[in-house]
Amino acid sequence: MSWFASVAPLPPDPILGLSEACKEDPRKEKLDLTAGTFRTPERLEPYMFEAVKRAEEQLLKVEKNKDYLPVAGDPLFLDRLGAVVFGNEDWSKYRANIASLQTAGASGSLRVGGEFLHSLLQRPIYISAQTWPNHRHIMRESGFIVDSYPYYDFKRHELNFEGLYKFCEGLPPSTPLLLHLCCHNPTGCDLTLDQWKALSELMRRKKLFPFLDCAYQGFGEGIDKDRSPLHIFIKDGHEFLLSYSCSKTFTIYSERAGALFVFTKEERIAKTVLSVIKMKSRGLISNSPAHGALIVSIILHDPALRASWLEDIEKVRKRVAVMRQKLVEILGEKYAFIGRGKGIYSVLGLSGPQVEQLRKEYGIYMTLEGRINLTALNEESITYLANAMRNVIPHA
Ligand code: LMR
Repeated sequence: MSWFASVAPLPPDPILGLSEACKEDPRKEKLDLTAGTFRTPERLEPYMFEAVKRAEEQLLKVEKNKDYLPVAGDPLFLDRLGAVVFGNEDWSKYRANIASLQTAGASGSLRVGGEFLHSLLQRPIYISAQTWPNHRHIMRESGFIVDSYPYYDFKRHELNFEGLYKFCEGLPPSTPLLLHLCCHNPTGCDLTLDQWKALSELMRRKKLFPFLDCAYQGFGEGIDKDRSPLHIFIKDGHEFLLSYSCSKTFTIYSERAGALFVFTKEERIAKTVLSVIKMKSRGLISNSPAHGALIVSIILHDPALRASWLEDIEKVRKRVAVMRQKLVEILGEKYAFIGRGKGIYSVLGLSGPQVEQLRKEYGIYMTLEGRINLTALNEESITYLANAMRNVIPHA
C-alpha cells in the first residue's frame, strides 16, 4: 500500500499545460497561441531580445562567483527596476517609503505579497472575473478566500465599468482587490484614466486595499503611459502592493525575475514591512535567482542596451497592433473589439466547445476562455486561424 494512494490527481495547468500538449501534437500545421511568450514573425519560434544576449555576454565576463544575493535581492536591480516601474521622479521621491523585494517572477511576488496581505486583512480577496488563472491559485495558496468582481462584458466586448464600480461600492472596508495595472490578461481591455481615477477615489473612500499586478508594462501604450494608473493611486494617498514581472518585458521567462514593491506612508513603516516580506521570501525560496535580475540590471544601466531594449518593446507593441488590425480585416467589423484591445492578448468570443473543436480539428491551441497570444501570429497563421474560426462558428 502506497503512502500516496489517497492522493487525487489534478488537471494540467490551464495555460502551460496546454502549451505542453501543443508541443506533443505531431501535426505540422498546429498553432500555439497559449502562453504569453513572444514568437518570431517568420517562423513563430520563441526568441529573446537582442539586449538580453548582449547583457548576458557582459555578465559572463565580469561575474566572479555565484554567491547568495542579500535576502531582499540585488539592490542595484531593485533600484534600476524601481525607476522603470514608478518613473524616475516618483521613484526618487518615494523610494524610501517603498519596501522593495526581488522575487522569483511575478508569481513569487504575488505569493509573498499575498501571504503578507493575508496576515493583515483576513477578508476575502477579489480578483477580476476574467483573469490569469494563476491569480486565483496563488491567492488561495496564500491563505485567502478568493472571489471575483465584474470586469468584462462578453456580449458587448467591452469593460463593464458600471458593474465593477457598483460592486466595489458594496464591499466592506479592508477588502483587498487584485487589479491588472495595464494590458489586462486575458481580455486586453483596460480601464481608461478617468475610470482609474473614479475607482481609486472610490477605493480610498471605501477603504479598499489595492494589490496591483504589472506584468506587461510597455506593451499597451508604452513604458511611461502604461504606469499612469500608478501615479493616480499615489496621488490619491493609497498604500498598495505592486507585483512586477520581468518575464515578458525582458523576454526572460524562465529566469524568474520579478519584484514586490510595498508602497507605504513612511520610511519607518517600509523598513518594518521589508523585514517581514524578507522572511516570507526566505521561507518560500530562501534566496532569489540572480541571473535574470543581473541581466535586467545591466540592460537598464548600459545606455546602448537600454536603447535596444526599448526599441524591441516598441517592435512588439507595433507588431501586436498590426496583428489586431489584420484580424479585424479578415474576420469583419463584428470583431472590431480586437482592434481596440491593449497588450498582447485578446479573447475571441468563442465558446468552450468551439475552442476545443479548434484544437481537435485544426491543432489550434488557445486557453479555454478563447484567449490568444497575438505575438504568436503572423500573416499566414492569421488566415489559417480565421478560416478555422469560420468553420467552427455557425453563420460566421
Ligand atoms: C500567460 O498568461 O500566458 C503567462 O503569464 C504565462 C503563465 O505563466 O501563465
